[in-house]
Amino acid sequence: MNLRRKREETRWEQLYEDQAVETLPWYYPGLDPDFAAALERYGIVDGDVLDLCTGPGTQAMALAERGFGVTAMDIAGSAVEQACVRAREDGLDIVFHQDDILASHLDRTFDLVMDRGCFHIFPRDKRRDYVPAVSRLINPGGYLMIKCFSHLETRPEGPYRIAPSEIEDLFSDDFEILALQHTTFSGNNLKTPPKALFCVMRKL
Ligand SMILES: C[S@@+](CC[C@H](N)C(=O)[O-])C[C@H]1O[C@@H](n2cnc3c(N)ncnc32)[C@H](O)[C@@H]1O
Repeated sequence: MNLRRKREETRWEQLYEDQAVETLPWYYPGLDPDFAAALERYGIVDGDVLDLCTGPGTQAMALAERGFGVTAMDIAGSAVEQACVRAREDGLDIVFHQDDILASHLDRTFDLVMDRGCFHIFPRDKRRDYVPAVSRLINPGGYLMIKCFSHLETRPEGPYRIAPSEIEDLFSDDFEILALQHTTFSGNNLKTPPKALFCVMRKL
């Protein structure tokens, strides 16, 4: 891992060590409504799912409760440890990994990869690297769902902003884009919910 990635890992690690996950702005206890609606719309009721950048692990747990086979990963070992304990307490069988999505050690593929708040963390050049890194983890015909801050969001702080044209530009060679819709992020202590994009894609 290069120095920049190591610094990133330490920054996230520190955050999860210092702060209770329930207080993090992205914490959402149930399955995010956009992901839930997409599962229903595309008739996705079973299969193997990878929850990228799982953080508190709530999305992974909600998917496991629905009967999916769930693997979850995050760069922050402390996040993974805490999520693993909570999943076990709830009797959920989830495979957790501490891993960097841009240099992942995973050597298998999934029917669905879900990304709630990961893609928008990376600067533009790394977002380009994200595409092959994630694409190789998805079965042909499998789904990729991404929820990220949208270019319409104006608050000064927060992650990078993504325009629909960037999604089309980066993903169209590897994926059929099924839906690209404007929405908002639900979470904690968010007076105004951040404007978001929600994308559903199918691997070619
Ligand atoms: C905004 S949080 C979203 C967490 C979770 N998906 C959710 O919706 O609750 C972003 C997460 O990405 C993780 N992360 C950051 N860079 C990463 C990387 N290169 N590989 C894997 N995880 C990463 C952070 O540790 C953090 O938990």
